[in-house]
Amino acid sequence: MNVEKAINVEDLHRMAKRRLPKIAFDFIEGGLEDERGLERNTSAFHKHQLLPRYLVDVSKRDQSKTIFGQTFASPFGISPTGGTSLFRYHADLMLAEAARNANIPYIMSGASNETIEVAAKIAPKNHWYQLYSARDPKVNADLIRRTADAGLGALVLTVDTPVGSKRERNIRNGFANIRGGLFQALSLKPSILAEALTHPGWIVEYFKRGGGTPMLGNWQPYAPAGASAEEVYKFTSSVRPFNAQTWRDLETYRKLFPRALVVKGIMSPADALRAIDV
Ligand SMILES: Cc1cc2nc3c(=O)[nH]c(=O)nc-3n(C[C@H](O)[C@H](O)[C@H](O)COP(=O)(O)O)c2cc1C
Repeated sequence: MNVEKAINVEDLHRMAKRRLPKIAFDFIEGGLEDERGLERNTSAFHKHQLLPRYLVDVSKRDQSKTIFGQTFASPFGISPTGGTSLFRYHADLMLAEAARNANIPYIMSGASNETIEVAAKIAPKNHWYQLYSARDPKVNADLIRRTADAGLGALVLTVDTPVGSKRERNIRNGFANIRGGLFQALSLKPSILAEALTHPGWIVEYFKRGGGTPMLGNWQPYAPAGASAEEVYKFTSSVRPFNAQTWRDLETYRKLFPRALVVKGIMSPADALRAIDV
């Protein structure tokens, strides 16, 4: 499969579906519960139409945008996605490289498989880090220190997952439990494994990276020495304060991180105003 042959985004969507086993593809494509949010987001774009004005010299065009004092080539970037080695080995680094080449921001997920430091070498000017915090403040302080030391332009705090999301496709595929918790451990039940075998490109990469759960690279140093990828994943899940993160934590992170701090996922205008105050 050659992505250069894709004519539009829908072609990439079809290629991804062909390449990935259902258990991985559904995680990326699926929404929550009845998936109405996916529909609503798409139709929100359809509400807008562009009204072009002609007889203007557009031989030179510029969509660059200055964000936090840095000029990027476009006013958008790559949102954080966790567990990407399940989809593509070293995908975090590929995203970092793509962001560098396109000069847009790349936000490394707090559940990435590669580390802050390695991606910072690839995309020193385009790399931000999304913090999933731990219950132990020393771990958070260290992750923030690493983000600052590696010279990253922004720290991004995701706030919209106080409880696990109910992604029903994941539950059906045996990739999450009914309460919504996500297991990156691939427990391939026979029907799921049989389906996965029909995607040989993915299977080859799965074994190339050693199979099983991909390592949560940034969390490895905080888990017991010598822990396997699956043990690091279980450790990380056990120390994450999903439902206990508060404004006080945001205030702490604001003090610890010397550069731009982004709060990701806010929905209420009142929360947005409060975040600006912090
Ligand atoms: C496969 C997948 C993994 C994601 N992982 C994360 C994550 O680790 N951290 C995070 O803040 N958001 C994560 N998100 C949410 C995205 O960053 C983004 O906010 C969301 O997909 C909405 O943008 P979209 O409408 O362009 O998909 C993930 C989304 C997907 C589809």
